Amino acid sequence: MRITVLNGPNLNLLGTREPEIYGTATLAEVEALVREEGVRVGAAIRFSQTNHEGTLVDEIQRLPATADGLILNAAAYSHTSFAIRDALLAVKVPFVEVHLTDVSRREEARRRLVFADLAVEVITGKGPEGYREAVRTLARHLGAR
Ligand code: DQA
Repeated sequence: MRITVLNGPNLNLLGTREPEIYGTATLAEVEALVREEGVRVGAAIRFSQTNHEGTLVDEIQRLPATADGLILNAAAYSHTSFAIRDALLAVKVPFVEVHLTDVSRREEARRRLVFADLAVEVITGKGPEGYREAVRTLARHLGAR
């Protein structure tokens, strides 16, 4: 089973970025958690981060050839990007959407999630542990297909 994990803008700054909101774990630490859980569920993990919307679209378009499932934290693009929604609709690769924070309890604009309705599951507000849960959820979903 192959799982790709895509992280959007500013997540490269985790650890120092607004730690009172996002915590102090770095993206490398999140990646280590994901890889640990990947070993547990028998999934090969590809983990990446980009600050660019078009790169996320390119990566999603490549998924049918490279992955069985996707874990996606598109960060701020989760609230705005119909380009990402359209790419997800085009490839139809099952995905779990993750947000470190509980976006429903933050600014009004963050309540709108433009592709969450397409996700197998949306995990919010659990910090880095949410990524671990996403690996388990996706693996269960892929195994049950
Ligand atoms: C985020 C929430 C988004 O609103 C924000 O723009 C991010 C991170 C999260 O993981 O909580 O950059 O996706």
